[in-house]
Amino acid sequence: MKGASQLLVDTGLLEGARSPLLIGPPPEDASTLAETGAELFFFEEASHARAGVGHAGVAPRTGDHDLAVVFHPKGKRRRDYALAVASHALTEGGRLAIVGEKREGIGSAKKALKVTAKHSGSHAKLFVGEPRTDLPAQLSEWERRWDTGLGFEAVSYPGTFAEGRLDDASGLLLETAALPETGSLLDLGCGSGVLGLAAKSRVPALAVTLADSDHLAVAATKRGAELAELEVHALASDAVAKVDGTFDAILLNPPFHEGVATSADVAESVLRGASERLATGGVLWVVANRFLTHETVLEGAGLQVDRAAENGRFKVLRCQR
Ligand SMILES: C[S@@+](CC[C@H](N)C(=O)[O-])C[C@H]1O[C@@H](n2cnc3c(N)ncnc32)[C@H](O)[C@@H]1O
Repeated sequence: MKGASQLLVDTGLLEGARSPLLIGPPPEDASTLAETGAELFFFEEASHARAGVGHAGVAPRTGDHDLAVVFHPKGKRRRDYALAVASHALTEGGRLAIVGEKREGIGSAKKALKVTAKHSGSHAKLFVGEPRTDLPAQLSEWERRWDTGLGFEAVSYPGTFAEGRLDDASGLLLETAALPETGSLLDLGCGSGVLGLAAKSRVPALAVTLADSDHLAVAATKRGAELAELEVHALASDAVAKVDGTFDAILLNPPFHEGVATSADVAESVLRGASERLATGGVLWVVANRFLTHETVLEGAGLQVDRAAENGRFKVLRCQR
């Protein structure tokens, strides 16, 4: 088990709780943690799929939990949002806790709640404290709108990719990709949905699907589409697991810094998934840092890969079967 899970079990907090809720536990520890009777919740569809238990979404079902434990996520806004939804899932008098690995910066989380007890061990720390009912639990209250410079505003929610700005790599992809005049387009790993929404606003005849593992990213995409009055289909999916059909064009800025050990695996599964969903004659456009060797995976998936554009930092790959 990861240190944070081990520490949580060692404290005996779960045994002492009637109905514990765990938010974002490591998927590899999920079945062991679920055996304690805890309810598991994930923001990420990929983590939920790997865990094989619990449920996923933008917030846990509010219920009568007497203990909610947040596994320290990356980023302060996602952490605070997780603490907010955890707090609102508690009964009166329920306890809120946050746990994480020391090397992943859990130390700073002690300021995020009024701590009543702390535990340390297994290279992890756990803080127990009072619920953060001062933070809004409604996702809409965390909304940030920003001008994409592409003729529409996009929406970011806590922890969604490149909050508040158009990513430089995505900008290069948009400048480079030739969009079909009709047919279907997939924006895979859509974040705020900027790529797919830009495609839909440029070519309204396209049927655009956008997918991301992160439920908050999907919610941001849906909200952005609503504000921009663009009709698209957005869904949560681990790579293409829940995406139906094949596409005439696919736009992809693959994930690259999800976690230390798994980043290459995640990018690879998304690249493979995109390759599988390319229609005959379709084009997959991939943007990546120049030093990444996605070509190997794409060629391994049977695609012909050409370098369509590059600058000092990024390259755009044009891939066809
Ligand atoms: C580099 S960002 C690109 C976001 C967006 N396309 C843009 O250009 O701003 C990669 C995205 O992939 C998503 N992602 C990570 N793992 C994924 C997976 N297994 N399946 C689908 N999407 C994933 C992340 O949540 C993130 O939004």
